[in-house]
Amino acid sequence: MITRKSKREIEKMQAAGDILVKCHKEIAKMIKPGITTMEIDAFVEKFLEEHGATPEQKGYSGYPYAICASLNDEICHGFPRDEKLIDGDIITIDMVVNLDGGLADSAWTYAVGNVDEKGLRLMDVTKTALYKGIEQARAGKRIGDIGHAIQTYAEEEGFSVVRDFTGHGIGPTLHEEPHIPHFGLPNKGLRLKEGMVITIEPMINEGDWQSQMDQNNWTARTIDKGRSAQYEHTLVITKDAPLIITDQDK
Ligand code: MF3
Ligand code: CO
Repeated sequence: MITRKSKREIEKMQAAGDILVKCHKEIAKMIKPGITTMEIDAFVEKFLEEHGATPEQKGYSGYPYAICASLNDEICHGFPRDEKLIDGDIITIDMVVNLDGGLADSAWTYAVGNVDEKGLRLMDVTKTALYKGIEQARAGKRIGDIGHAIQTYAEEEGFSVVRDFTGHGIGPTLHEEPHIPHFGLPNKGLRLKEGMVITIEPMINEGDWQSQMDQNNWTARTIDKGRSAQYEHTLVITKDAPLIITDQDK
């Protein structure tokens, strides 16, 4: 169901977003060669508990962990593990915070030590692509405008856009209508309305866009071993620039 959130619901989501932003900022400091994503998962569980919040992903459709930790050629839904991160890796940490029923969802790709130039460019283009999508996300625009802006930019930069996973409406549950593809045609699709809360979360690949599923039935990875980056924000549609619930720069 597509809902438009009340002021009170948005305030609750913002409170969850504030915790999520703090948590991502702590993770940014922790990410170094030698740390494991299982340690980051444990940190997030503890951090959220200390803030009176819960990790919404844990137990969601049977997903076993607080975070998704997607390494290099993993596109999304990577499992945290005991293997140490090494210099040159890129790692996407995705999490959803639930505070008193308010949800916020944000993924961020981090460089581990020194990442090569192409990897850094992949990260930079993916983050910029997210913000190109956000520029289109306002009342009166259509869902296709978001995807078109992201796809056009990412492909001009020589990268490809994952098709098999999309952004989504969020609240009261994690995945609500509508789907928000990161590719598409301008002026097509549902018209955005004030008070809708959505995620935009482009997954951009250095090689082919196609994905394949791991044995664990969760983790998607590229078919050509090329790396994949992802940045995700939760945002509220308004008449003007959207309110970014998970903004790290406020
Ligand atoms: N945070 C992810 C998203 O952006 C959801 C991961 S699926 C889960 O939609 F099962 F891990 F929660
Ligand atoms: Co997410």
